[in-house]
Amino acid sequence: MLYLYVCVPNGFRNTPNADLNGKPYDIEIYKDDEGDNWPPSSPPPTDEKRRQMKVEQAKYLENFKFPLLPTSEDTYTKIAKIGQGTFGEVYKAIKKLTQPVEHVAMKKILMENEKDGFPITALREIKLLKKIEHKNVVNLLLISTNNLDSRKISRTEFHLIFEFCEHDLAGLLANTNLKFNLAEIKDVIQQLLNGLYFIHLNKILHRDIKSANLLITKNGVLKIADFGLARAFSDVIVKRNHKYTNRVVTLWYRPPELLLGANIYGPPIDLWGVGCIMAEMWTRCPILRGNSEQSQLLAITELCGSITVDIWPKVTDLNLFNTMELPIGQKRKVKECLKPYVEDPNCLDLLDKLLTLDPDQRIDAHGALDHICFWSKPMPGGLGNAISRLQTSNYEFLVKQQKFGMVKQGPSAFAPTGLQDRIY
Ligand SMILES: Nc1ncnc2c1ncn2[C@@H]1O[C@H](COP(=O)(O)OP(=O)(O)OP(=O)(O)O)[C@@H](O)[C@H]1O
Ligand SMILES: [Mg+2]
Repeated sequence: MLYLYVCVPNGFRNTPNADLNGKPYDIEIYKDDEGDNWPPSSPPPTDEKRRQMKVEQAKYLENFKFPLLPTSEDTYTKIAKIGQGTFGEVYKAIKKLTQPVEHVAMKKILMENEKDGFPITALREIKLLKKIEHKNVVNLLLISTNNLDSRKISRTEFHLIFEFCEHDLAGLLANTNLKFNLAEIKDVIQQLLNGLYFIHLNKILHRDIKSANLLITKNGVLKIADFGLARAFSDVIVKRNHKYTNRVVTLWYRPPELLLGANIYGPPIDLWGVGCIMAEMWTRCPILRGNSEQSQLLAITELCGSITVDIWPKVTDLNLFNTMELPIGQKRKVKECLKPYVEDPNCLDLLDKLLTLDPDQRIDAHGALDHICFWSKPMPGGLGNAISRLQTSNYEFLVKQQKFGMVKQGPSAFAPTGLQDRIY
């Protein structure tokens, strides 16, 4: 059950469409049903109390007009659908009555299945994004609602209004005409690590690092997006044995500790995703593609070697270590398998350190940014130039719609299957 408090500062009342530095609302999540939230839950309400609260919430949402939120239709004109995620549709839109023309991305919050009111994923996204202001993290500008009276619809809709980015990395990687050179690849990964370093510094885990969640502007600036699965973490929580859900991170980017049932974890889970994406910059398709948690683990062991107590001493603490089928005697082949794609030995070394099985030994964002890979020639840079040559936007959603096949790389352990086969 959720309690949502929306407070709007006074200044906002006089300038309803003002940006106010993207921070007009103050939203607090008090508790949720998942047991995966902070602060820790108070004793659960009785069934009768829950029923009453649901009825009250339904009434509240039906009748409340949110007079202080800008209305979506009065403020923005949708131009095209650019994304369809699990938690909402994303549209490119134009801000009305502004010169020069200002584009935004509108992420509609799906309310259909929300028996408990405002979706927890959207609340998290708003709450956490408000905490982070960084060049490499997408900027949440506003939250808007629909005008119930003008559209004669009975349901309240909300949109998150983001700064607009012309591409996402999954779409760019699927564009066979776009080739990245080594400096540009380093640029992408360095920007990703810069954003992630800041997110982790602010004690937030992203928990869904994948190429479709990395936006790129027309000037070549990478922005980490989609904080729908993100959560705050605290070293205190870890000490208190507070448990998190392990059902996070898209399967192909999910680290071995989550696949083995870890529910106490930290920033290393996001660094595994960076390793997968870094390799993908060369292979142009996801490198570890299981179709179940078990087969994902098999794909990981085939590349990274068998999971044993010798290389990962605390692995026996994980719930599923004795349940999952884990091949023995597999040799680690990260460098060997990726060498045909990644010629640069420094990049290969960083990849090896990111795709480390034991999360305690996996390189962190700070260590990765210090790696020789980013301090040797060619130096990271030039992504802006590469992107500026593109005439159209590249999004995973559009690529999927066009049923556009992935670039063929010849026979390899990482032979592409096509974006439409991605397993989420
Ligand atoms: N600010 C933005 N500018 C441009 N495109 C965006 C923006 N935000 C999101 N998108 C596009 O919409 C897609 C889906 O957005 P997002 O990942 O935030 O939604 P989601 O519902 O959480 O998605 P999923 O469940 O697929 O991860 C992104 O992959 C991207 O292509
Ligand atoms: Mg997403």
